[in-house]
Amino acid sequence: MSKTSKTATLSFDDKTLELPMMSPSAGPDVIDIQKLYAQGGVFTFDPGYTSTASCESTITFIDGDKGELLYRGYPIEQLAEKSHFLEVCYLLLYGELPTAAQAEDFESRVTNHTMLHEQMQNFFRGFRRDAHPMAVMVGVVGAMSAFYHDSTDINDPWQREVAAIRMIAKMPTIAAWAFKYSLGQPFIYPRNDLDYASNFLRMCFAVPAEDYEVDPILARAMDRIFTLHADHEQNASTSTVRMASSSGANPFACIAAGIACLWGPAHGGANQACLEMLREIGTVDQIPEYIERAKDKDDPFRLMGFGHRVYKNFDPRAKVMKESADEVLDLMGIENNETLKVAKELERIALEDEYFIEKKLYPNVDFYSGIILDAMGFPTSMFTPLFAVSRTVGWITQWKEMISDPMLRIGRPRQLYTGPTRRDYIEVENRG
Ligand code: ACO
Repeated sequence: MSKTSKTATLSFDDKTLELPMMSPSAGPDVIDIQKLYAQGGVFTFDPGYTSTASCESTITFIDGDKGELLYRGYPIEQLAEKSHFLEVCYLLLYGELPTAAQAEDFESRVTNHTMLHEQMQNFFRGFRRDAHPMAVMVGVVGAMSAFYHDSTDINDPWQREVAAIRMIAKMPTIAAWAFKYSLGQPFIYPRNDLDYASNFLRMCFAVPAEDYEVDPILARAMDRIFTLHADHEQNASTSTVRMASSSGANPFACIAAGIACLWGPAHGGANQACLEMLREIGTVDQIPEYIERAKDKDDPFRLMGFGHRVYKNFDPRAKVMKESADEVLDLMGIENNETLKVAKELERIALEDEYFIEKKLYPNVDFYSGIILDAMGFPTSMFTPLFAVSRTVGWITQWKEMISDPMLRIGRPRQLYTGPTRRDYIEVENRG
């Protein structure tokens, strides 16, 4: 970010402050308010950070009005079509697409870290079988700092690199084992001769009793889902990772915090909530009733998979997902899928409805992803863990960017306090 000659003038009471402005390489200019409190004695108020840039970043950019998502400058549609997840991981982590030699070296480094410390199996076995896989993932990923102490020193660039590779490599194993544990099936070890997505599908669906052949079309669809979810600017879970790491916490603890945040239905949990909603709607003729409920201010119901804090146009990832949904259902021989019909019709009706047009509510990435994952054989409880597998590279890239920034400061927002002012303690006999 470069400082510009522009300044913003802020006047209040008898003060006038000249605030410096900065220009990004894309997106709106930024007013630098870092000295606002020191110079003006006031805070700004921005719950939900709707107008606040919390950091400087070079990784991902969204143009919400155009419906554009760029990883290191490359449009998501091009990456989804031409690239693959591990290449995207390299791009995000190191800023450039790899040469053939760099790609080979990176893929072999990730592949050689896919196994989990054997002792971690005991950790898994401590959970109840009916635990949500996200609960297991928060616990197991947090526990990685107890198993991999040799990559927790955030001041050592080599340890940071090893932690990044370990996270990307082991997260599919953790998610697959959380799934296997919930099914009461044996854990399946990773196979390093398979690509990232195929290895993950095999760890989820193979059993020791028989061979499991990964369908390349399903592997491609899985890989694309990973790519589409790999990073997304300063979303809630990424900001959580950054906030946790600002105190100097180790990377495994920070990613566990990100997973906890991702679990919520307004964020990563939306794909599960969306499929459940589409199933609840059930048939096309029920759609108008649900559209009315979504518009009713007194009804807490929202159309899951619709709306986004940043996109005020189509989420570009939703378009790719819609195509993938058709491909996967076709491959699985699932014809006339009622849920897909409901989704397509719901999208059509909502996009013509004044309420949704006026509020610029469009389908987001979660609208079609649940249908694909369901067709692949994943239960809804695995949808958010899959999102966590994909987003790990984004979290770790943003974490690395933050830790290597010489300007790193602990994240410590201010508040607009509206509680009681100072008062003296009242003895219990005098209360009432
Ligand atoms: N259905 C109905 N109305 C909606 C919806 C929706 N899905 N989303 C937003 N609105 C309405 C709100 O009621 C509000 O109306 P108002 O101005 O009359 O009060 C207006 O649109 C703006 O909504 P906000 O909640 O203020 O928008 P915000 O940017 O804070 O929220 C969010 C974004 C959380 C994604 C929201 O659109 C939502 O809850 N969507 C459903 C959940 C979902 O799909 N989440 C996935 C996000 S993508 C991801 O995490 C990968």
